[in-house]
Amino acid sequence: MGSQWSRDSTYTRAVKEGYRSRAAFKLIEIQARFGVIHDGDTVVDLGASPGSWLQVVNELTSGKILGVDLNPIAPLDGVTTLIADLTDPELPAKVLDIVGEVNVVVSDASPKISGQKSYDQARAIALGEEALCIAQKTLKTGGDFVVKSFQGGDFPELIAMVRPQFRLVKAYRTSTSRKGSSEVYIIAKYFIGRDR
Ligand SMILES: C[S@@+](CC[C@H](N)C(=O)[O-])C[C@H]1O[C@@H](n2cnc3c(N)ncnc32)[C@H](O)[C@@H]1O
Repeated sequence: MGSQWSRDSTYTRAVKEGYRSRAAFKLIEIQARFGVIHDGDTVVDLGASPGSWLQVVNELTSGKILGVDLNPIAPLDGVTTLIADLTDPELPAKVLDIVGEVNVVVSDASPKISGQKSYDQARAIALGEEALCIAQKTLKTGGDFVVKSFQGGDFPELIAMVRPQFRLVKAYRTSTSRKGSSEVYIIAKYFIGRDR
């Protein structure tokens, strides 16, 4: 998480406002633009450590909140946390056991960067696919999904997988994403539902 904390004005703002990471402002911006989370919603945050998105979600809903990560997440009032791998096939069932069906799945998960661009991108897209799979198995009909991805390579395939499953799908680059980064979020609203 070192790169999250390089000392720029967004870092200073995060410290001042009590957020665990500058990443908080990405979700704040997505929420202001797309209104994905409503009070009372049950929200699952995938790749949630150290927890700044969870802090933002906690400000937006009085519903159940679950944060999942490979790494521990320091406790937050009103938030349940789970140490787990997004690639664990049992994870959707665990999520349903803990919080029941979900209104919103957000994923800011990203793999450790090796520096080899195409390899890193392929792993990031694969994580996005895992997040989509979890969303498909846990979202209520009408629910929303936000997932971090990276432009280039297999990005068109990932967004093409998302499109038929939601009524509104957009790619959105936040103003707080680092200059030169290909980071982009897929915002998907109104889950069409799954075959039961
Ligand atoms: C950019 S950080 C998330 C920051 C978080 N949104 C916040 O605001 O504090 C990406 C996270 O993805 C997690 N991650 C990467 N691969 C994962 C996997 N396979 N399963 C679960 N978490 C994973 C990492 O451990 C890391 O904590």
